[in-house]
Amino acid sequence: MMDSKYNAGTSGQVSKFQMKMKPTPIIFSKTGPPSPKKIKLSNENQKHTTSNGNFNNRPKISIQEHRRKLPVFGKRNKLLELIKNHNTLIILGETGSGKTTQIPQYIYSARLQENGKIAVTQPRRVAAISVAMRVAQEHGQGLQVGDVVGYAVRFEDVTSQKTKIKFLTDGMLLREAMFDRLLMEYTVVILDEAHERTLHTDVLFGIVKRAQKIREDRNLAPLKILIMSATMDVDHFSRYFNNCKAVYLEGRTYPVNIYYTIKPHDDYQTSCVATFFKIHKEAPPDHDVLIFLTGQEEIEACAHQIRLLSKDPDVQGPTVKVCTLYAAQPSSQQLSVFQPAPANTRKVVISTNIAETSVTIPGIKYVIDSGMVKARSFHSSTGLELLKTQKISQEQAWQRAGRAGRDSEGYCYRLYTRSQFELMRKSNVPEIQRANLTTVALQLLALGIHSVNFDFMDKPQKDAVLAAFEQLKMLGAVDNIMANGLTSLGKKIAKFPLDPRFSKIILSAHQYGCLEEALTVISLLSSESILLNPPNRREQARNVRQKFCSAYGDHITHLNIYREFNNVGQSNKRNWCHEHFVNMRNILHAREIRNQLEEICKKADMTLTSCGSQMDQLRKCLVTGLFMNVAELVRDKQYITLDKKQAVLIHPSSSLHGQQPGLVIFTEVVQTSKCYLRGLTTIESDWLSEIAPEYLKNHHMKVTNGS
Ligand code: CDP
Ligand code: MG
Repeated sequence: MMDSKYNAGTSGQVSKFQMKMKPTPIIFSKTGPPSPKKIKLSNENQKHTTSNGNFNNRPKISIQEHRRKLPVFGKRNKLLELIKNHNTLIILGETGSGKTTQIPQYIYSARLQENGKIAVTQPRRVAAISVAMRVAQEHGQGLQVGDVVGYAVRFEDVTSQKTKIKFLTDGMLLREAMFDRLLMEYTVVILDEAHERTLHTDVLFGIVKRAQKIREDRNLAPLKILIMSATMDVDHFSRYFNNCKAVYLEGRTYPVNIYYTIKPHDDYQTSCVATFFKIHKEAPPDHDVLIFLTGQEEIEACAHQIRLLSKDPDVQGPTVKVCTLYAAQPSSQQLSVFQPAPANTRKVVISTNIAETSVTIPGIKYVIDSGMVKARSFHSSTGLELLKTQKISQEQAWQRAGRAGRDSEGYCYRLYTRSQFELMRKSNVPEIQRANLTTVALQLLALGIHSVNFDFMDKPQKDAVLAAFEQLKMLGAVDNIMANGLTSLGKKIAKFPLDPRFSKIILSAHQYGCLEEALTVISLLSSESILLNPPNRREQARNVRQKFCSAYGDHITHLNIYREFNNVGQSNKRNWCHEHFVNMRNILHAREIRNQLEEICKKADMTLTSCGSQMDQLRKCLVTGLFMNVAELVRDKQYITLDKKQAVLIHPSSSLHGQQPGLVIFTEVVQTSKCYLRGLTTIESDWLSEIAPEYLKNHHMKVTNGS
């Protein structure tokens, strides 16, 4: 047992509590009063319809009543008038004010979309799906998505002839633009969550702006563009969109008390658990808690710890309902976060930055902010694109805190000190300035645009653009880096909704007689992980799957699992998955992806060949796309990448961990305290000179004796 002391306010009153747990106590000090930045505006009086008063009963109001209580409802007519009179409009508003779910419906019921459809983009799959389901329900479709309201995300299209409001990921709309650059299917395009500045949204800004202009010039059906966003600096956006008008929706926010830790804590995960139990002991049961962590593994581990500790008889507090929210999760599970907890139960939602602005969870009174986020970053100097855990920006910190002030006054525990907060970046760097641009460069070329001439809101770095064209040239998608069009191979590559390197592998497969296998490997790489590794049964999972392990590495190990899954009889599949710690949903999803990719291949007249057990053919085929991702062993366990000579290690989760093959190709780099490679296949050094001689000329190898 240990004592935990928390400084709960400037007055210095200290509450003590005891708990049976490992986490080190965290000491906070309240530095406030700051509540999240608020935007002022609105000339219509806003009533606070939800108050502390009915908070305790977890009120159940009808869905239509809920709609009428949203802040955006009072602005309905004014908004519609603005949308009608402006071809481009920026709509800003606090998260949860009803922008995403209501505005498309307002437009639809006022028939402003006329004969076209309304597209609403979301940076994340989860948001696109959950919002579509919500809107379908509000629209009276029940949970039947795909009628008037539908959605489309990569490899999943739930729309029909009747669909008029279509939620889709920004990546999907970008793909649609490749087939119809004027987006004629739509008369209204809403680019939502614009403040996130994802790579795809940034490219879409230019695409829709261009489509609008061309449609106008050619006297075609006009295209309305709405940019929706949480609060942010609007001038930059407005300037880019020809000084368009911006409208502010006043949100309904309550003050949030902010607490900082007194000293820095490195182990934010444990701190989250400790802080949760501090709140848990003190707060009334219907005060829900939202914890921000960075990714699936962390979230599941934290959920596990909280579930376990909350059942401990020595821990005081009501029953706990733990919900998790992250991109890799099945959508049905994701949707459970929106359900209110039963009486006398505290709901705790543990989420990635999805809950920052993309989705709003009702009932949150407390936020615990780890201060961290997992983000993709590309270093043109090392040539590596990393998924890296890093500090959030101040803007994100305010968004996170704001989640606690939706229904009534709330509390936010920041697991960092005030001075750490002050050292954080003010706002996020747009993804276009920190991501690998190969796919974007390819997509723009498919539209006949060279990235250098594209009207970006913020220009990407020159180095990154060059690196992208260099990569396309290496893959054979362009003849030279100033090319204004794609080679015939490049055009084929662009047909697949995949990373160009993966498309190249599929396209090379006929040459190696392994299209069946290549399709499986790429589908598995495109779905969420099929392997389950529950923290408390990791060893058991590893042992039972040992028989599938290939000495050639992860891709072939996964292929073996997939093949075996297919061999198991239909009625046994569920049991088999359970027994082998295989995620049935994800493997079925991979199968669906595979079917879709197979369709594309069939349309391109490619023959489905199989290499059976001749794995060399498949391994060589993988090299045709991944030759830029090669690492060689330099000394004990230590590898360097061939490309930029970056020091790397084999990730502990890889089937090659503990072995030391001389040469490997990899599909992913993760950086924690060190740089790790994931998704590996061993290769022979002479294959590189056979398959990518050009590349090898510029990237000499140290080891020449292969694996
Ligand atoms: O887009 P914005 O952040 O302005 O708000 P919204 O996503 O339209 O959410 C408006 C309301 O709908 C919130 O109160 C959410 O709790 C609710 N909502 C929901 O219950 N289920 C969803 N899947 C999405 C939203
Ligand atoms: Mg929204």
